[in-house]
Amino acid sequence: MEKIRLGLVGCGGMGTRHLYGLRELAETPFNNIELCALCDIRRENVELAATEAEKLLGVRPAIFTDLEEMAHQTPDLTAVDVVTDPSVHHTVVCQALDLGLHVMVEKPMAITVGACQQMIDAATRNNRKLSVAENYRRDPSARLVNHLLKTGAIGTPYMGLFHSLSAGNSIFITPWRHLKDKGGPIVDMGVHMADQIRYQLGDIAEVYGDVWLVEPVRRKADSIGDTYTFYQNRHKAMDNEVPATAEDTSMAIFKMESGVTVNWLISRGGTGSYGGEMILGDQGCINGFGARGSRVSMKRRDEDEMTQEDLLASVDGFALEPLAEHLFPSRITDTDSKVDWKIIALEYYELAEAILNDRELEVDGLEGMKDVAAIYAIFESARAGRAVKMSEVETCQVYEYQSEIDESLGLL
Ligand SMILES: NC(=O)c1ccc[n+]([C@@H]2O[C@H](COP(=O)([O-])OP(=O)(O)OC[C@H]3O[C@@H](n4cnc5c(N)ncnc54)[C@H](O)[C@@H]3O)[C@@H](O)[C@H]2O)c1
Repeated sequence: MEKIRLGLVGCGGMGTRHLYGLRELAETPFNNIELCALCDIRRENVELAATEAEKLLGVRPAIFTDLEEMAHQTPDLTAVDVVTDPSVHHTVVCQALDLGLHVMVEKPMAITVGACQQMIDAATRNNRKLSVAENYRRDPSARLVNHLLKTGAIGTPYMGLFHSLSAGNSIFITPWRHLKDKGGPIVDMGVHMADQIRYQLGDIAEVYGDVWLVEPVRRKADSIGDTYTFYQNRHKAMDNEVPATAEDTSMAIFKMESGVTVNWLISRGGTGSYGGEMILGDQGCINGFGARGSRVSMKRRDEDEMTQEDLLASVDGFALEPLAEHLFPSRITDTDSKVDWKIIALEYYELAEAILNDRELEVDGLEGMKDVAAIYAIFESARAGRAVKMSEVETCQVYEYQSEIDESLGLL
């Protein structure tokens, strides 16, 4: 199979997981990527990643601490996968696009809507592909919900509930996830959820919301569950306390263009844990929007609740893309320990297909920007003290909260 030559930029926690995604793809007959270079501004991170890559893929990629050097010294480099922290996505992505490379960037696409727009402009001006690695919608559970909604299984949807309050004041994965100008926990996690909502229920028209910083000091957890060497090393090196500048709690109403109303409650802080997801229609409801490693069910008027297995056995015309069918033969992922890596494999495969065959991307720059804008609409609404239209947020007309981030990063 024809392959693109790829460089990975940002060899931290998720960068390491992307290497496992490449290994999953390499073990299928669909492999269309050759990893040839790694880049990180921290030499120890890129060296550790090169050792992981060699173990996983059998070849040690060339290592760099500078993107431009990587682009010039790597023959036939076609694309880069940008997995840095979000505060530099726009810098790294625009530089890569201007160097003539195609790009996949991790979510959130960028640190502000203005930064997303810079990236969209750079992709257009260089005629290059820009993909945003939004993984949750690629899980079979999300694909199934989408199929159920499209085929009218619950009639006409009128309401959605997306509630995920997670109590505690421990550091959420990395210290930077508590800093406003690096992408706080609501941006970091919420962008997945905004994408799930938009994927299932279409574009958002208007948002009214509020945000709070409930935990101004974050503390290092006693241990972390992850077995990756990178995460373990970083946990050991982490300070015991981190001051937080980014809000950790949010509440909002999303009025969708379709007329559906979504009630949103997301937090990573405070004392109360609470959660549940539901899409309600005039003929039934679906439990769950679908996400990586999740499971959904459906209850129709006057019928018993149907599990994901029941639904898979009874729905007509539901199919995953060929690589997803190969990776997820049971179409159920909640017990699949490799689901994270397999979905990354799907993202990589799609990127290479789009480049090799000039195909459209599912989550391109515009889609990625809309997810970022949906989250900042909550912050901007809280700041403005009124409901905000997505058209105002997506065109940066309502921008007070984000302009502070742009200013601190010199983005203006
Ligand atoms: N899709 C998901 O499920 C998921 C999960 C985790 C993280 N992420 C996303 O992945 C991205 C990275 O998150 P992470 O947890 O791996 O962060 P991290 O801090 O663990 O890793 C970031 C890496 O980027 C490097 N870096 C920073 N600036 C750079 C630059 N200019 N050039 C090259 N390297 C640079 C850092 O040295 C570090 O090694 C974020 O956008 C995050 O939101 C996505």
